[in-house]
Amino acid sequence: MTIRLEQPEDYREGEDLTRTPSAEKAKLMLRTERLTLRPWFESDADSLFKYASDPDVGPRAGWPPHNSVEESLEIIRTVFRNDSNWAIELNATGEAIGAIGYGPSCECNLPAREGEPLCGYWVAKPYWNQGICTEALQAMLDYIRRTTDIQSLISGHFVDNPASGRVMEKCGFQPTGETCIDETQYQGKDRPIRVLRLELK
Ligand SMILES: CC(C)(COP(=O)(O)OP(=O)(O)OC[C@H]1O[C@@H](n2cnc3c(N)ncnc32)[C@H](O)[C@@H]1OP(=O)(O)O)[C@@H](O)C(=O)NCCC(=O)NCCS
Repeated sequence: MTIRLEQPEDYREGEDLTRTPSAEKAKLMLRTERLTLRPWFESDADSLFKYASDPDVGPRAGWPPHNSVEESLEIIRTVFRNDSNWAIELNATGEAIGAIGYGPSCECNLPAREGEPLCGYWVAKPYWNQGICTEALQAMLDYIRRTTDIQSLISGHFVDNPASGRVMEKCGFQPTGETCIDETQYQGKDRPIRVLRLELK
């Protein structure tokens, strides 16, 4: 798989982007054969609602299904618009079919190391089991390695959602051997989470 970090002017293959200012990083788009990881736009609200209102998607990831296009728009504005969250766009159609990102783990109940970021993702149900999420996660990990000093990432999945664990393992995450309960997650009260970590350095 070829992963390219696209930056309009001065991109150089293999360049160490660790010192690139975050405003410049925000302009980077990650391209793979089938996907482009790019910022969310307000014009994605309709497709976000179409896929995130599916009751088989959000609850597996710990959030409730979206109830309206307006709610999806609000989530784009308040949750997705930062430089460590991307829409997963299918190159063939130009449509956003999922989300991927990383951020502070302090708001969840995972046994994270101090300052260790958490990563998460989802893909629209019609596109499951085609390697899409694995391709997106590999691209994001490549970006993190090349643009940050992050030492490790933590993640977890509900034990009753093994497909997510499979994606992490395909990308090099190892189970820590821990499980935890995170009541802050939607329907998280009685659903154990299996914890995995990726050492980046
Ligand atoms: C989990 C999710 C992101 C996976 O996306 P995807 O694009 O289908 O993932 P991939 O195709 O790259 O890989 C899925 C893997 O899980 C495997 N899998 C699917 N269902 C499975 C199951 N019931 N048990 C075990 N493995 C399963 C697939 O076979 C595949 O592994 P393989 O390549 O070794 O055959 C997607 O199902 C999703 O969005 N689910 C709802 C939200 C969610 O769970 N988010 C993650 C929260 S932690």
